[in-house]
Amino acid sequence: MSRPCNVVVLISGSGSNLQALIDSLADGTSPAAIRAVISNRAEAYGLQRARNAGIATEVLDHKGFADRERFDAELIRRIDAFAPDLVILAGFMRILSPGFVRHYHGRLLNIHPSLLPKYKGLHTHQRALEGGDAEHGCSVHFVTEELDGGPLVVQAAIPVESEDTPETLAARVHAQEHLIYPLAMRWFAEGRLRLGEHGAMLDGQALPATGYPFRTKEIRDA
Ligand code: GRF
Repeated sequence: MSRPCNVVVLISGSGSNLQALIDSLADGTSPAAIRAVISNRAEAYGLQRARNAGIATEVLDHKGFADRERFDAELIRRIDAFAPDLVILAGFMRILSPGFVRHYHGRLLNIHPSLLPKYKGLHTHQRALEGGDAEHGCSVHFVTEELDGGPLVVQAAIPVESEDTPETLAARVHAQEHLIYPLAMRWFAEGRLRLGEHGAMLDGQALPATGYPFRTKEIRDA
């Protein structure tokens, strides 16, 4: 296998997506290697998950900085110490400055709990229910300066049931997140996924504007 793909993961909370990324590397067939997990919150449980997996951790508390630009500059310095090929936002609850986003252009991924471009921002499960949507889901996308607006890589859709609450919906969407984020990381690490001039490309082909339409049964073949 060629050189590993160095990955740095940014978190703020529970880190269940981080766990899915870690678990996806267990069989040793992916060229991705998670070099560090960085959190802006010292109490984030995801830090423990990283330590359990023997991954380096760092805490960078945004409250110690006068403004977003200075925090982001220090965050870049910490991330770049691990020479990342890919930076993964996994529940990192900070809006990133344009300078940060530009610095990692084409190597910064995020996961969002909705079928983007629907429901950018917060409370996505509640909004999908209020909207009477038949389907809801999650999206992995390249990060650009537009919040939750970068080119889509992969989406997983689930049916909304009449008895769903925001909590039941969130749980089923989360389960899909844990499938599609490792898939996107693997594609990137294998050199199959990249950000082209007009959007995300997989195996040299432009992906649909809504990203690769993931279906659970396909995970084995993708
Ligand atoms: C996920 O719902 C993700 O879509 C959003 O933040 C949440 C992180 O959850 N960006 P976890 O910390 O990975 O459990």
